[in-house]
Amino acid sequence: MKIRALALALGVAASGAVSAAGEVEVLHWWTSGGEAAALNVLKDDLSSKGVSWADMPVAGGGGESAMTVLRARVTSNNAPTAAQMLGYDILDWGKQGAAADLNAVAAKEGWDAVVPAALQNFAKHDGKWISAPVNVHSTNWVWANKAIFDELGLSAPINFDELVATLEAIKKAGYTPLAHGGQAWQEATIFDSVVLATGGVGFYRKALVDLDADALGSDTMKTVFDRMAILRSYVDDNFSGRDWNLASAMVIEKKAGMQIMGDWAKGEFLNAGQKPGDDFMCFRFPGTSGAVTFNSDQFMMFKVGSDRRDAQNQLASSIMAPSFQSAFNVVKGSVPARTDVSDADFDACGKKGMRDLASANANNTLLGSLAHGHAAPASVKNAMYDVITAHFNGEYSSADAVSELVAAVDAAK
Ligand code: GAL
Repeated sequence: MKIRALALALGVAASGAVSAAGEVEVLHWWTSGGEAAALNVLKDDLSSKGVSWADMPVAGGGGESAMTVLRARVTSNNAPTAAQMLGYDILDWGKQGAAADLNAVAAKEGWDAVVPAALQNFAKHDGKWISAPVNVHSTNWVWANKAIFDELGLSAPINFDELVATLEAIKKAGYTPLAHGGQAWQEATIFDSVVLATGGVGFYRKALVDLDADALGSDTMKTVFDRMAILRSYVDDNFSGRDWNLASAMVIEKKAGMQIMGDWAKGEFLNAGQKPGDDFMCFRFPGTSGAVTFNSDQFMMFKVGSDRRDAQNQLASSIMAPSFQSAFNVVKGSVPARTDVSDADFDACGKKGMRDLASANANNTLLGSLAHGHAAPASVKNAMYDVITAHFNGEYSSADAVSELVAAVDAAK
């Protein structure tokens, strides 16, 4: 009230900066160097609008730990203003009646017209916007050390056999071929690409989105697991439990040839001062070009008291502003969640990401990432994680992994 009175006295009552003053508490898992740099773009933007930021970071790539902490918070009636969230998790909170209604701000700013349907499907519940999408990432990328590729005369492989030959050449030269962190979500991230490369778009959809038992139990799926085992043979001995950004650092520091990871990895290369084309290369996982396995980070908004609503709406509005979507995603490695943002400020990998997303959207080859919550609900995703990671760690043969996968998905559905 005091601020409003002061604003009136100063004649600036209509200014967004004053009416939005307040605090947002935001739960997220953006704790790596590149992620934190991107988050700072959002924090600074809000601070310029008079909104302060109460930070609630929960470390752990992919956000599993963050979701556990969030559940505890909401259960004890202490929901944050907003939480970083992926796909089906957003819809789950919507169903539980915990979400705020952002329709007023969405209508005023015309979100319906600029956010692709594939994202709206996860941002709305019951016709109401409950979440603000900040980006689109995709998982079918490879990040490679340019100096190693140049030294060995290598170029981007275009199919699985070429990928293996490339890994072999890097191994012979004494580098770790594949930088990887042994965590279930990281193995699942590779799995997204291997399923797509091995079975194609139709198979990916049948197996990982429709959860069709025949596709899950097929010979193609056995080949997928065989290929996962081949990739496993190119990681170093210390991979267990390693965080994804430390795996990126191995490529950055010329210790490893490549990492198969979503484009948040680019944020690490940029944060280390590296440039695409000069220091590192980005290319689609061999055999997947033309399709995109996407995940969109959104800030799902929780029901809050009237004292926190202005700041919450300002957070949503700031996230959706075109200039912010450009500035943020240039740093994060992702691409804008709006279709009307120019690619002028993006580097070559970002421009390619934007082109690929638009054409996948137009050609019906845009697929939700299983690993990052956009193909199936958390129960199914976690059941698949268990099988994928157990197989990666040598607990199952490929044939056993296939039957375990069918059974696990059936039980979790
Ligand atoms: C993803 C998220 C990305 C990135 C990554 C690693 O699930 O969408 O923004 O942060 O996890 O933490």
